[in-house]
Amino acid sequence: MGESVPRFRGKRVVLGVCGSIAAYKAVELLRSLVKEGIAVSVVMTESATRFVRPLTFEVLSAVSTDLFGGRQEMPHLALPGQADAVIVAPATANQLAKCALGLADDLMSALLLNAAHGPLIFAPAMDGDMWGHPAVQGHVDQLRRRGAVILDPEEGLLASGRIGRGRLVEPSVILNALETVWQRGWDLSGQRILVSAGPTREAVDPVRYLSNRSSGKMGYAIAEAARRRGAEVVLVSGPTALARPEGLETVGVVTAEDMLKAMLGRLDWATVVVMAAAVADFRPRRSASQKLKKAQESGGLQLDLEPTEDVLLAVSQRRTTQLLVGFAAETEQLVAQAREKLSRKNLDLIVANDVARSDVGFDSDHNAAVLLDRSGGITELERMPKTTMAERILDAIRRLQTMPTPTAPSRPSGSRSRERGR
Ligand code: CTP
Repeated sequence: MGESVPRFRGKRVVLGVCGSIAAYKAVELLRSLVKEGIAVSVVMTESATRFVRPLTFEVLSAVSTDLFGGRQEMPHLALPGQADAVIVAPATANQLAKCALGLADDLMSALLLNAAHGPLIFAPAMDGDMWGHPAVQGHVDQLRRRGAVILDPEEGLLASGRIGRGRLVEPSVILNALETVWQRGWDLSGQRILVSAGPTREAVDPVRYLSNRSSGKMGYAIAEAARRRGAEVVLVSGPTALARPEGLETVGVVTAEDMLKAMLGRLDWATVVVMAAAVADFRPRRSASQKLKKAQESGGLQLDLEPTEDVLLAVSQRRTTQLLVGFAAETEQLVAQAREKLSRKNLDLIVANDVARSDVGFDSDHNAAVLLDRSGGITELERMPKTTMAERILDAIRRLQTMPTPTAPSRPSGSRSRERGR
């Protein structure tokens, strides 16, 4: 039988090994990484060296254990700078905590603070009770929000003799995670993206409200894709039936007013704002404190509506350097109407949806759109899954970020392109 072709020839990885009983499994992981063509530098914590001798790794890799006095100068800076990814396996509760808190009292923890520009993968291993502890879970959540990939430990027999969730995942799981982050790229690392999604509800009385058909799927897809591409993401969501995405902060809101507060409150934090929510344009001027009775309204019910504040416009007026993306839901003159909104709301990019179509849009898993940008560029995105469209919208954001003059929308004379759904 011939040897399989290495999948990742030319890639470089730092493998951090912490002091867990599972440290010996890192030797097998190292072997698997090397077999796939990856050049690996191993970093061990002091306690890891008590479980496995550095010499065991040195057969296959350079090994560093010391912040000071090693062979390489300033290894905590040099190693992550040269690497295409940093893997910590096994990652202990202590190491997760140190990284979440930003402590840097040894080589491994200092190195992790310098690994922010590339994919960072943690494969924790510990006792089940430790893994389930709220402090550990809090740190895991914090790291995920910052873009780290955490490979949840598996359930099985633990060193304590008990059955629980705490076993280090297999090398194949770590290799698959590497493949995923390298395929997707990590181009949004360092970005803080504020995304709104879903409808708002405006109360008529304690049991009735005005709302719209938005499912939230498009905004959620953008938030999740941005997270996967390395961004920190906050999702401000109106009421939807969707599960809260993992690894990012979701802020639940109900009314347009709540959404306005949630978005403005986080605007200074953000580098990009994507307003995918379908905010109600009107709300009842007065919401009845008691349920409206049919008998009392038998002549018909008149609702007196007042406009809600335009959240996107408010964000646009207060923003400083943030790149701003809006949506336009139109049933006619799609491009002309969207162009008018792009200019009136002073946006960098607008995603124009034809909401009269029944095969895409509201409630559907698919969407079709035209992207109009501030420099006049037009991209037609034919019918495709919302998850794919999310990636295309993020691609457009990346393109705009590398262009000069971030805010002024200009004449509608630019390039036109067409992309098919994949
Ligand atoms: N939007 C908003 N606040 C509102 C209404 C809309 O922030 N009260 C935002 C939406 O999130 C979207 C953009 O404005 O990003 C365009 O929404 P759309 O409903 O298409 O347009 P409107 O501005 O409401 O104008 P019209 O309803 O007249 O088309």
